[in-house]
Amino acid sequence: MRRVLTSEIICPSRHKWLHDKRADEADNLTRYVYNLSTTSSTVSSSATVDVRHVARHYCGNVIRRLVFNKRYFGEPQPDGGPGPLEVQHMDAVFTSLGLLYAFCVSDYLPWLLVKEANETVNKLHDAIIDERWRQWKSSERNQDHQMEDFLDVLISLKDAEGNPLLSIEEVKAQSQDITFAAVDNPSNAVEWALAEMVVNSPDEVMGRAVAEIDAVVGQARLVQESDIPKLNYVKACIREAFRLHPVAPFNVPHVALADTTVAGYHVPKGSHVILSRTGLGRNPRVWDDPLRFNPDRHIPPVNNPNNGTNSNNDVALTENELRFISFSTGRRGCIAASLGTAMSVMLFARLLQGFTWTKPEGVDAVDLSESKHDTFMAKPLVLRAQPRLPKHLYPTISN
Ligand code: HEM
Repeated sequence: MRRVLTSEIICPSRHKWLHDKRADEADNLTRYVYNLSTTSSTVSSSATVDVRHVARHYCGNVIRRLVFNKRYFGEPQPDGGPGPLEVQHMDAVFTSLGLLYAFCVSDYLPWLLVKEANETVNKLHDAIIDERWRQWKSSERNQDHQMEDFLDVLISLKDAEGNPLLSIEEVKAQSQDITFAAVDNPSNAVEWALAEMVVNSPDEVMGRAVAEIDAVVGQARLVQESDIPKLNYVKACIREAFRLHPVAPFNVPHVALADTTVAGYHVPKGSHVILSRTGLGRNPRVWDDPLRFNPDRHIPPVNNPNNGTNSNNDVALTENELRFISFSTGRRGCIAASLGTAMSVMLFARLLQGFTWTKPEGVDAVDLSESKHDTFMAKPLVLRAQPRLPKHLYPTISN
């Protein structure tokens, strides 16, 4: 299945093919945050915005557009925000993800809650998949026309004999896996990065990121994916969030298929291998002052081709040396580094370019504590957002 996904779904040609849907969702994000920030319920000129809410729903929108060609399961919302079904979808996805990273399920989550969450996700997905399956089987849709999204690709895949490659159950399982895999990492990293920036020397760190966007993109158009290669400091901030605030304390367990030696340790065949993400990312033998949010550590001197830069010295979000875990590496590493990078950078860069983020009035300090149950922020990040671009640049019409 991994081979099928990498060759047919999460491959460079499909990434390009689906660019415009991702661009629509970046515009929708800007529009939604603009609407939230200008519908002020207080005397102040700008309202507060729940960053977690907008980040998670941006990720949900992107993945629904790519998989099902839909932002909304239900009625479109005039402000670009989620409706009740989209809220249900993301809440259920995040509840199910809690199970994925739990060591021992019963320690963390009531089983019934997870079962219900899975049923919610399946109910929302199945209605679309069943109908689409019917359309393909009745030739209402066919290969030559109307290939719109990952779902069309999954349903129409053929084996070497020209027979359908996947059953409907397999299509459903893949759609669910892709959805689960796409949402938590970008939203968590961006929420933490923005929180760290607002708390720690905002003028310096946030100021530099915004200045980079202004220098690369200017203030006469919105950031696009084509700008990503040049937004090195912005990417360094996201890398720093992955390092310091991974989405989960451990990676999912893997089993060693053969005897091996890693970093001088003998790992016998059959061992369950669990990497500590926080242990790697906060290791003082690798990272100076490891608890400090310092994106500069990812901007190496020119001519250092290692660690976080590619041959052009661009900063990348991948970390193949495993000094921390972003996309991991090797045969079970993430298959979607390009999509994950595009989602994370566009989310972060659009928030930074479009708005000035500050503590809400009357709040002394932004609380940077971690949740007791996972590595998310204990409380959703709520900040004051002030539009900073000319008004006509904020998209107003839903696409
Ligand atoms: C910033 C975004 C993302 C990050 C940081 C990330 C990170 C990871 C990591 C660390 C793993 C390995 C887990 C393990 O140890 O087994 C993984 C696996 C995976 N990711 Fe991602 N991911 C991201 C986005 C995505 C997206 C957008 C998709 C798909 C649309 C995706 C699909 C997958 C799949 C299918 C696997 C399982 C690969 C396998 O088991 O062979 N990821 N991801």
